[in-house]
Amino acid sequence: ITLGVLFGGASTEHEVSLSSASAVLKHLDNEKYDIVMIGITRDGHWFRYGGGAEDVKADRWLAHPSCVPAFLSPNRAAKGLFELAGTEYRFTPLDVVFPVLHGKNGEDGTVQGLLELADLPFVGCGSLSSAVCMDKTVAKTLVEAAGIRVPPSVTLMREEWEAGKRSGLDALTYPLYVKPARSGSSIGITKAHDPAELEAGIATALLHDDKIIIETHIEGFEIGCAVLGGSEPVTGALDEIELAGGFFDLDEKYSLRTSAIHLPARIDAVQAAQARETALRIYRALGCAGFARVDLFLSRDGGLYFNEVNTIPGFTAASRYPNMMREAGIAFPELLDRLIAEALR
Ligand code: DAL
Ligand code: MG
Repeated sequence: ITLGVLFGGASTEHEVSLSSASAVLKHLDNEKYDIVMIGITRDGHWFRYGGGAEDVKADRWLAHPSCVPAFLSPNRAAKGLFELAGTEYRFTPLDVVFPVLHGKNGEDGTVQGLLELADLPFVGCGSLSSAVCMDKTVAKTLVEAAGIRVPPSVTLMREEWEAGKRSGLDALTYPLYVKPARSGSSIGITKAHDPAELEAGIATALLHDDKIIIETHIEGFEIGCAVLGGSEPVTGALDEIELAGGFFDLDEKYSLRTSAIHLPARIDAVQAAQARETALRIYRALGCAGFARVDLFLSRDGGLYFNEVNTIPGFTAASRYPNMMREAGIAFPELLDRLIAEALR
């Protein structure tokens, strides 16, 4: 099987992708797969890469002598990668692609649309589902329509905010989370305890997106559920994020300085079953395929609320999704095999 692995990307989560991709590359079985690595720079330039996983992780891959400009063709008559060889393009057919990309221009349906145009099988959610899950407002609207609780929120476009629109904001109870509507890894997210912090948080979120969402904090904690598969998706173990203060921001996600991830989540069997069932309902409501990590809030009074879905969740060997699947008995290499098999089904 010739497998294209996409990494990097023109996204604020570029570095996270490098970590995820290097872990994926290290755990793929070289006997089963001919791996074609395709790196995308922060500027959106595509290169075929022939070096090792360590240089991907260390963000040195672009300096590798093997790098040559390359592109995936949207043409179904040529399913694969074109790479520059001298003054000509050399073609490598691909059987399947794993976009190990996070956030904008990779997890948001854009790359998935290209792969669909090319009729190239790929790991993970399709273009519609990817786009829907990337936009927190759109995802929440669909999840709420499916009968699942969502934290009260207000969505604002940049022009509305700049034109003085405040409607709805006064009705929200502090503390609030101010988020770019389409971002990942908590980049651009702040927690606001008063109107001054809200103003500052909106300015920060607007640095990352023209569309922002302001959500109420649910008293309780966050739990995650790994989902794998297509028509009969299965869930992995649930994890729980324990916070000492603040919230699970980008620094905390990678340092775990004041927070802890409990795997499995410290909840009873009834709550765990409800969380799994809710995660599967969300996965289906949002049209997910292949895999996704569904993030929920469990409130103090035991209510489950939707937080968000990551259609290409962090995928380092220490990341939540692979850990949740490992806890459920599916080791990293087997997980990769199953994701690829599902893409080819
Ligand atoms: N967006 C990051 C990669 C995650 O949620 O796992
Ligand atoms: Mg995310």
